Amino acid sequence: MNKRIVLFASGNGSNVEQICRFFEQDATVTVQAVLTNKATAGVINRVKPFGIEAEVFDKSSFTDGTLLAQVKNSNPDLIVLAGFLWKMGADWVKAFPKKIINIHPALLPNYGGKGMYGEHVHRAVRANGDQETGITIHYVNEQYDEGAVIFQAKVAISPQDEAAAIAEKVHQLEHRHFPEVIAQLLKIKAE
Ligand code: GAR
Repeated sequence: MNKRIVLFASGNGSNVEQICRFFEQDATVTVQAVLTNKATAGVINRVKPFGIEAEVFDKSSFTDGTLLAQVKNSNPDLIVLAGFLWKMGADWVKAFPKKIINIHPALLPNYGGKGMYGEHVHRAVRANGDQETGITIHYVNEQYDEGAVIFQAKVAISPQDEAAAIAEKVHQLEHRHFPEVIAQLLKIKAE
């Protein structure tokens, strides 16, 4: 049976691009929609070469049930947050139990919670002088970054690494693992 995924992003969209590229080769998985809360998000141009027109939504449609009804109607197998910065409300979590996953650019439970995203995370990791960082892919529950962990991967960092260098290392890990973890989850769901 064909599997359908819906992707949410707020920014640049390099993870969304990797996911689209990965599943372009796989006839059993369709990227059904790319949804963004930001009209100027880089993700919009990144998905065009895949024949995907990203859809921009506003805060009210996200919170008043309009977008939720639309996504429910399309009956996705998995909702993937790839650099999406708004909190999924209880209505979303209830509507899609164990069907919403998020990627976080650190080794949760470290560096999670409100305000901990993107560069903020990498700057905090550097400020603490950590020798390693990594990525966490986890289910989404009603608390920021607290859902059950599905996958983690680590990378070493050196004292010379500025936040930008840490971000680059983390992005490489994300691009390598995120599509494969999604593929694995879809396979498990099919069994
Ligand atoms: C990624 O590093 C992702 O882990 C992070 O935003 C970046 C988006 O990059 N997400 C969070 O910080 C969520 N708390 P991208 O737009 O290039 O995919």
